[in-house]
Amino acid sequence: MKVPFLDLQAHHAPLRAEIDRAIAQVIDTGAFAGGPFVADFEREFAAYCGCEYAIGVGNGTDALWLALLACNIGAGDEVITVPSTFMATAEAITYCGAKPVFIEIDERTYTMDPSQLEGAITSRTKAIIPVHLFGQTADMDPILEFARARGLFVIEDAAQAHGAEYKGRRAGTLGDAGCFSFYPGKNLGAFGEAGGVVTNDARINEKIRVLRDHGQTRKYHHSMVGWNCRMDGIQGAVLQIKLRQLDRGNALRRQHAAEYNKAFRELEAVITPTEAEWGKHVYHIYALRVPERDALLAQLNEVGIGCGIHYPIPVHLQEAYRGLGYGRGAFKVSEQTSDEFISLPMYPELSNEQRRAVVSAVEEALAAPALN
Ligand SMILES: Cc1ncc(COP(=O)(O)O)c(C=O)c1O
Repeated sequence: MKVPFLDLQAHHAPLRAEIDRAIAQVIDTGAFAGGPFVADFEREFAAYCGCEYAIGVGNGTDALWLALLACNIGAGDEVITVPSTFMATAEAITYCGAKPVFIEIDERTYTMDPSQLEGAITSRTKAIIPVHLFGQTADMDPILEFARARGLFVIEDAAQAHGAEYKGRRAGTLGDAGCFSFYPGKNLGAFGEAGGVVTNDARINEKIRVLRDHGQTRKYHHSMVGWNCRMDGIQGAVLQIKLRQLDRGNALRRQHAAEYNKAFRELEAVITPTEAEWGKHVYHIYALRVPERDALLAQLNEVGIGCGIHYPIPVHLQEAYRGLGYGRGAFKVSEQTSDEFISLPMYPELSNEQRRAVVSAVEEALAAPALN
């Protein structure tokens, strides 16, 4: 049985008529850029997250960049983050003129290790960006405590963590601002590019609203130099409908993860994901760690099981960041997990039969001589 890595058609099929009607409404009203559909989604997403404000923007990278700008991060500043993330986390820091400073992740949760913060702080440090990798929040309390004691901003990269929880609070609402991607494959995905920032801080909310629209406070009155980072009306309309499915989808993902964990428990070569005691993981990505990852990936691809690698090169080793001067060995856990992670099919519509086919294929591949 072939199992795709992602199946957006299956996800959208039951919503299709409602989504078609919503898109038709955007076309009929001409509210294509920003406008009432985006504003309605912003209200609903803020309520869902349990915070005061949500601001719709063009994508998750914009969300991070604008959140940093709203915290006045700029040239000469340093922002501490992790290398085990998608490139965008560091890019947003660089695009403000600031410098990314990396620290190691925790081997159990694959999120920022708070005990490493002390060693990375300098007089130029202005903010910390923990990344809620794969759908699990970082251990936020020690990060927030460290930041508050030193007057640093905390901006959460919640691009993979829609609906995840830390001690009962939703991802994105714990720090000064939380940044989301609504890229189509995310747990809450748009019909194209979209992103959002959530915050309880009225100043950050106001500043991002102005910045995302060319610095305009009124049409053609520009109080600052901004950029065009508006969310499309169609994305606002689609996201309103899909938001109502988010909790159900996350619950199904959690069930699949529990079944995968149970099935892989006996396999010695495999490390399954850990759900930390502090939170609720929403399994945007279900990644195993396997020493012979590349051989396993090749075998699974051969039998039609769609898999991914998130991410094959940690950000500190990317060519684009060679100038920062980190070399191999700088962050051993991030480097080793990059070599070992393999992401299996994970989505609400995955059937039990498909999931069992994935498990059998992994078991068979790991029993094969090449992987033994
Ligand atoms: C951890 C993380 N941060 C930031 C982003 C950037 O989001 P976008 O692709 O919407 O710009 C992503 C997207 O994949 C991500 O996974």
